[in-house]
Amino acid sequence: MRLKVAVLAGDGIGPEVTREALSILRAVAELGGHDFTFVEGLIGGVAITATGSPLPTATLDAALDSDAVLLGAVGDNKFNSLTPDKRPEAGLLQIRQALGGFANLRPSIAYPALSASSPLRPEVTKDTDILFVRELLGGLYFGAPRWWNKETNEAINTMRYTRDEVVRVARIAFELASKRRKKVTSVDKANVLEVSQLWRATVTEIAKDYPDVTLEHQLVDSMAMHIMNIPRNFDVVLTENLFGDILSDEAGVITGSLGMLPSATIGGAVNLYEPVHGSAPDIAGTGKANPLGAILTAAMVLRHSAGLEQDARAVEQAVHKVLEAGYRTADIARGGDSVQMVSTQQMGKHVHQALAESIDRRQSLHAV
Ligand code: IPM
Ligand code: MN
Repeated sequence: MRLKVAVLAGDGIGPEVTREALSILRAVAELGGHDFTFVEGLIGGVAITATGSPLPTATLDAALDSDAVLLGAVGDNKFNSLTPDKRPEAGLLQIRQALGGFANLRPSIAYPALSASSPLRPEVTKDTDILFVRELLGGLYFGAPRWWNKETNEAINTMRYTRDEVVRVARIAFELASKRRKKVTSVDKANVLEVSQLWRATVTEIAKDYPDVTLEHQLVDSMAMHIMNIPRNFDVVLTENLFGDILSDEAGVITGSLGMLPSATIGGAVNLYEPVHGSAPDIAGTGKANPLGAILTAAMVLRHSAGLEQDARAVEQAVHKVLEAGYRTADIARGGDSVQMVSTQQMGKHVHQALAESIDRRQSLHAV
């Protein structure tokens, strides 16, 4: 298996968590005899500092020339006073648009070993396994017009969707649900917004092509509550860009930390992989960052770009194993005497070790 990955580590904790994710991908390549190559590029604040642009042409070219893009995080307080189009985040939005992936998959799972890390009671989080399908190229993030008139003190953003944009992301949600627990919850604000009425009508129509999948609709405000009340009720949650951004951070509470959440964006020319967490500049360089979101993102690279499902599962199992063994970064370190605090790098090493053991075992089973 050959795979060329563009690695855009970005700002803040991006480089330190990406380093651990890469070491896992390298281990999978080595243990399985695959040929993975990695090309590095600048994005976000580091790119602005070096080149003046949050997405330099060289980075975009390298990304478009790859089989997958692995991104760390973007965002730096240094640029807080700039308008949205000049900020590090603009680089991320530009690359999302250029790569063309419109379905952002954000799994949110309750790990039994982390039940003490969530402020929710264990009986609430138990058995949660939600897959958010967040539309990534439409809605308020990209709608025009958009401006802020400082003379008149007026600003505008546009929430816009076309039927086709809803159809394509809805199909991905239904396809994924049909391989899972066969339920799609579509989230909108159809009691107020025309865009949501179009969304709801379109999703309802597409559902007819998937008779084995149950569809339910939820309004985003009550959904925010339901997710905290009975998270196990949800399987695939389909929603537009901004609602998905908000609800997926909320879902981090179920897992115990935003630092645990991976994501993959599919449907475009090149898939884009990024942990859900941001650049966390306050802890950058302290060894406190949780690399598991990035490592689980690497597992998604294996699943969705390399077709190595077994290896993707092996990485996920290795994460389970180190959590069961009690290793914790600072963000998930609740849980009493049985847990052991480790640094970003140590956490990466523990996953690496657990992974090597399981792949070794698999190979020796094959050899028998
Ligand atoms: C995310 C982030 C981004 C988003 C930011 C950094 C632009 O919050 O991936 O969830 O809003 O999409
Ligand atoms: Mn977000």
